Amino acid sequence: MKVFINKKIPEVGVTMLKDAGLEVIIPENNNLSQKEWHSYCKDADAILNVGQNQFDKEFFGKYSNIKAIALYSVGFDHVDIKEANKRNIPIGNTPDVLSRATSDVAFLLMQSVARRASFYFQKVKDNNWGNFDPLYELGQELYGKTLGIFGLGRIGFEMAEKCKKTFGMNIIYHNRNHNEEAEKELDAKYVSFDELIEQSDVLSIHANFKPEQSNLFDASVFKKMKKTAIFVNTARGGFHNQKDLYEALVSGEIWGAGLDVTNPEPIEDNDPILQLTNVCILPHIGSATVEARNGMARLAAENLIAFSKGEKMPHIANP
Ligand code: DGY
Repeated sequence: MKVFINKKIPEVGVTMLKDAGLEVIIPENNNLSQKEWHSYCKDADAILNVGQNQFDKEFFGKYSNIKAIALYSVGFDHVDIKEANKRNIPIGNTPDVLSRATSDVAFLLMQSVARRASFYFQKVKDNNWGNFDPLYELGQELYGKTLGIFGLGRIGFEMAEKCKKTFGMNIIYHNRNHNEEAEKELDAKYVSFDELIEQSDVLSIHANFKPEQSNLFDASVFKKMKKTAIFVNTARGGFHNQKDLYEALVSGEIWGAGLDVTNPEPIEDNDPILQLTNVCILPHIGSATVEARNGMARLAAENLIAFSKGEKMPHIANP
């Protein structure tokens, strides 16, 4: 079986595939042109895909030679799962191994915004240290505050656990289903969407993104949030309307925002949100640790090896 890997990944995954007898094709160039992408795809049996390439109806129609896809991501919003199912193509993903790293980034963003870290770091870089001033640009403490989680799966649980243990925060959540583990271990309370946005001091998104949730967090939502609330998104930029978020941050409808994902991505260099001092923005680095990225390579390889043996992928988005 010939596997096309579209970007270099940690060696552990490549070695596993080769040791299992699979042929592995990795281009020298990490940023393929459309033409190169096309010629690699049409020559492979399976893809180990890094990044947000769209696997839609058109792709599956054009490359009927592709029999399996192992995503190097936990998210699969760039795959038309219905179409893959119709064609019997398994779509592997990489859950769990990046939950800690991604929730660490949510936790980091929450604190950076609460303590105005980007604002102060910019001042230091501008050679503007300033004098001790009892009233100047104060942050807020998170002890005993309410964390609202939208989408309480593995990553949301890790975030909730850190917030509970570190700051004794109360956890509320909104999800498709009840999360009994979180209710038992973290005393998390299930609330309606409106209760979530109205009661959260920190609102953190950890759900899988679906197209129908596009711009779910818009002006009408920000209006209902507390003026002291911090909005954190480490899931997908499509969840929030970035123009509305900007307006809410400027008008003081909410207090600040921490984003590891933006809408669109990458962020446009003239996006006015970049000028605000009450935001902290990172370039989608949730899983960017050695540990998480090695784990992702291992899981993606396990998926393709299982497939090559005629077995079910162990980590699969379309079971
Ligand atoms: C994921 O694994 O889904 C990360 O967001 C990277 O795309």
